[in-house]
Amino acid sequence: MIRLECKGVAASVLDGIRAGTEELKERGGRAPSLAVVLVSHDAASETYVRKKEEAALSLGFEHHQYTLADDTGEDELLALIDRLNGDDSVDGILVQLPLPSHIDERKVIEHIAPEKDVDGFSPVNAGRLSIGEECFIPCTPKGIMHVLSYHGIETAGKDVVIIGRSNIVGKPMAALLMRKGVDATVTVCNTHTRDLRSHTISADIIIVATGHPGTLDSSFVKDGAVVIDVGVNRIPDSSRKSGFRLVGDVDHSSFEDRDVSITPVPGGIGVMTVAMLMENTLESSRRRQGL
Ligand code: GUN
Repeated sequence: MIRLECKGVAASVLDGIRAGTEELKERGGRAPSLAVVLVSHDAASETYVRKKEEAALSLGFEHHQYTLADDTGEDELLALIDRLNGDDSVDGILVQLPLPSHIDERKVIEHIAPEKDVDGFSPVNAGRLSIGEECFIPCTPKGIMHVLSYHGIETAGKDVVIIGRSNIVGKPMAALLMRKGVDATVTVCNTHTRDLRSHTISADIIIVATGHPGTLDSSFVKDGAVVIDVGVNRIPDSSRKSGFRLVGDVDHSSFEDRDVSITPVPGGIGVMTVAMLMENTLESSRRRQGL
């Protein structure tokens, strides 16, 4: 098994963003500014939001977190987004998902001004991505493209299987891989896929984003393939101080003696997602300041 390193890739991306931020300020601009809204207080969302804040502050970005109560009404959340949309000093708006069930997630995402939608989840950005126009690219798929490119993994003419069809990972990932210049042949599987192994066994690259540990083991994968593990799942573990450990969607132990390259969990695609959010925020800030 070959471990596809991601932490160093993310660190070099962050170095570039730090330099870009300095350059922006030297040209008379202000630091990029990110607004993060947290409504659902599950432990995973709180961790993700904290990591985004740490990265933003380490780059010298302005960072404002809006922590709302779980029972916040939809109207109140939409009013906050209206305020952030209209605030010229805010470059990026991120509403951490999932939202509590009484709030319509699509309505909230559609409310974010597309030019501040650094997650790339709004219909305008998703539509632009699907037709190959310039847009904010969702952070996890963008991070995966970076990792593939950094490790010199060719995509043109390759068979890529994506397991999971979410709006956050699976669908934008497929759109990116189908783009001209990327040129992969893409299959997107879901829970109704009849024989998952029949698709994955001949794939050159497999991207697993189901949110379920053990979705893929080595019996599904041919020699020489690349596996991208997007999952971050908390498994109870009384031997840890935290009471849990993080595992991906892939059974890594089954690959030990195999000629397969895999991204680790933790310290894999998750760190790239945060770095790409910072890149999108810098890009937004440059555009909005005309610098
Ligand atoms: N929840 C899980 N991943 C993401 C993400 O990339 N962005 C937001 N806003 N919420 C998430």
